[in-house]
Amino acid sequence: MPALITTAAPVAHVAALGLGVYRPRRIVPNAEIVEAIDSSDEWIKTRSGIASRHWAGPDETIVTMSAVAARRALEAAQLTPDQVDAVVLATSSQMVLGPSAGAVVATELGMHDTAAYDVSAGCAGFCYALANAANLVRAGQARHVLVIGVERLSDLLDPTDRTCAFIFADGAGACVIGPSETEGIGPVAWGSDGSQTAAIKQDKDFQEYFAEVAAAEATGGTSQRPYIRMNGTAVFRWAVTFLEKACRTALGNAGVSVEDLDAFVPHQANSRITDALVKALGMPESVAVARDITETGNTSAASIPMAMEQLLRSGEAKPGDTALLLGFGAGLAYAGQVVRLPEIYSDTSPEK
Ligand code: UT7
Repeated sequence: MPALITTAAPVAHVAALGLGVYRPRRIVPNAEIVEAIDSSDEWIKTRSGIASRHWAGPDETIVTMSAVAARRALEAAQLTPDQVDAVVLATSSQMVLGPSAGAVVATELGMHDTAAYDVSAGCAGFCYALANAANLVRAGQARHVLVIGVERLSDLLDPTDRTCAFIFADGAGACVIGPSETEGIGPVAWGSDGSQTAAIKQDKDFQEYFAEVAAAEATGGTSQRPYIRMNGTAVFRWAVTFLEKACRTALGNAGVSVEDLDAFVPHQANSRITDALVKALGMPESVAVARDITETGNTSAASIPMAMEQLLRSGEAKPGDTALLLGFGAGLAYAGQVVRLPEIYSDTSPEK
């Protein structure tokens, strides 16, 4: 049997080099949502921290939002699309099973023959994709990887669902990963628990839906399209009891203590979950905590890059700062790692 040879040149250190986001144009305040779910602006703000969110219009698709965020991330990293060897795109709201959104986005960006694929890990998706990308670069399999987290969750919302209608939102964030002189992405802490699949899920699959439509046509009855559903209490309990350990593992993996952190960027699920983690971890007041949920809502796989950008844009954190990222959600799955925060694009750049 012939011995296999390797041409890959492993890389000692990797880092996030540039960050870009896309926020959909339409801002939806709580006032627009409350009537259909018999709620109030006060209840939503107090129980979740959300004041408004962005919902995408027809032209703001998974592909178009990703492409704008990606171009901005490349600009921040001072790289061009032809320097990217792989695109890893995390989403749970692409409405077609194929082709992968990653492949379409790569082509939209003018890339040719570039490895591209999607990752489905719910709200942990961005951190899963980031770990994947860092390891591709480390192994010498790719020099620069574009990681994208993107969602159009408004497509999956039942406007009368009191648990989901006010939480989920749309947007995209992208980050370029590449070689670095010093380490910029710590080893991931990740896991999943499929015994809690029912805690966040699409309520019926498309086969069930088509059967329902056929039955409704035959009997003159009604059918309802699939929606995202969540047992908010179960997810909340898991988040505030289990995720402290995940954070401590991610910190330990990188050899960093809570006191060494400049910033904490958890998935923007609920500001009370963020508060509980900050308290459980004993985070010093000097740590800048991402609170992008207030004006962005919960954008699932897009929330971490969008929240990173908000922290950097506001000046609460700066490129090079040490930050703990933590994604968690449907699966139930989680992933977290310590990173050095990347550069962001200039906010005067035109929307390309
Ligand atoms: O991104 C993936 C990960 N997702 C998450 O991490 C989400 C985690 N879960 C949550 O964020 C929270 O569970 C929610 C924000 C979804 C709900 O907040 P909660 O404090 O857990 O509400 P609850 O379901 O325990 O309900 C508390 C009360 C109930 O009234 P009573 O029985 O105390 O009188 C509900 O009927 O609030 C009522 N309620 C509402 N009231 C106004 C529930 N939903 C609403 C609503 N508006 N939308």
